[in-house]
This record gives sequence, C-alpha cells and structure tokens, in this order.
Amino acid sequence: MKIIAFCGSPRKDGNTELLLKETVRGIENSDFTVKIFHLNLMNIDPCQDCGGCDETGKCIVQDDMDQIYDAIRSADRIILASPIFFFALSAQTKAMIDRCQSFWCEKYLLKKPIQGGKFGRKGLLLLVGGMKKEIGIQCAESCAKAFFRTISVPEHSMLYFLGVDEKGAILQHPTALKDAYEAGKKLVEI
Ligand SMILES: Cc1cc2nc3c(=O)[nH]c(=O)nc-3n(C[C@H](O)[C@H](O)[C@H](O)COP(=O)(O)O)c2cc1C
Repeated sequence: MKIIAFCGSPRKDGNTELLLKETVRGIENSDFTVKIFHLNLMNIDPCQDCGGCDETGKCIVQDDMDQIYDAIRSADRIILASPIFFFALSAQTKAMIDRCQSFWCEKYLLKKPIQGGKFGRKGLLLLVGGMKKEIGIQCAESCAKAFFRTISVPEHSMLYFLGVDEKGAILQHPTALKDAYEAGKKLVEI
C-alpha cells in the first residue's frame, strides 16, 4: 500500500507536524511506510491559471510539484495535515492544492479520473487551530474535500483540534496524540 502525507505547517515540530508524526507512527506500526512532503520546504509556485493543463491534464510549470503529481497519482492513502490560518488551510497547503487543477482538467474535462488500485483510495485530513471557533475547520474541510474528490479520493475522515496555539501545545492535549495514532492505524486497515 502506498501512503503519502502532506505537512502544510511552516512551523517545524509544530502542532500539525507532531500530530502527523503520531499518525505516521500508527501506520508504521502496521508495517507500512509513509512518504511525507513538507510543503514549506518545497518550491511550489501558485497556480497561474494559464490554461496549460486544459487540454492535456498536465501542468506545464516545472517545479517540485513534479514529484507530487506522480505521488498523488499512485497513492492508495493520502494524508493532508494543515494548521488553520485565517479560517482556512495554510497557504503552503493551498498552493499545492491549486496546482492540482491539472487533475481537475484530467478528471472533469478529459473524463479520465485517477484509477484506484486494489486498496482503493482513501484520505485523512488533520487540522489544528489555535482558536476555538469551528468556522476555520468548516472552511478548511470544504477546500480539502474539493481536493480529495478532484484527485479521485472518494472518502476521507477528519481529525481536528481547536484551542491548540503555542508551538507544541498539542502535546498537552488529553487525547490528540492517541487519536492521531489510532487514525493512522485505521487508515491502513484492509
Ligand atoms: C497566520 C496565522 C493565522 C492564523 N489564523 C487562525 C485562525 O483563523 N483560526 C485559528 O483557529 N487559529 C489560527 N491561527 C493559529 C494556528 O492555527 C495555531 O497556532 C496552530 O497551532 C498552528 O499549528 P502549527 O504549530 O502546526 O503551525 C493562526 C496562526 C497564524 C500564524
């Protein structure tokens, strides 16, 4: 089973990354490995709406998205982890998602959706917000759902934590790490 994860926080060892690490631990204890993309460390230009992918389903911009396109195409499980920034996904996460417009063209214009393998394609969304307002989660999930469906992930589960602000504060949460570990285990159950 091929599993990939996107970490959309710029904060190294921040709450999103700590949560994601626990999810990965849950997956690796089930004897699978996870390829993690740290989006903040990658060279990913925002979509230019140039129309270059309209007829081919292939983005014409060459940058680090090249490796992500291949990974998304062949993944069985996809984890998207982001902090809530201004009631939404982080800019790092959103830039990667917008560049998946080429998959949108491939699926909806060219009628060639990505085909799942024998394990199917499933997603997991991990979100962390410093405030206690749900609106950021709702906005972020709407965007993440559009992403997952565009890349032919028909179902995803979500784990989110609010009121977690300071770097590392997630470590003090009573259930977050265990929940993340269990979500990882569940994601790879066959
Ligand atoms: C630019 C910016 C915008 C933020 N906006 C929100 C917000 O709208 N809602 C919220 O709940 N938290 C907001 N936060 C707080 C972060 O979600 C919170 O600190 C989170 O724990 C960061 O996760 P990280 O450590 O993985 O980066 C914001 C933080 C930053 C830096």
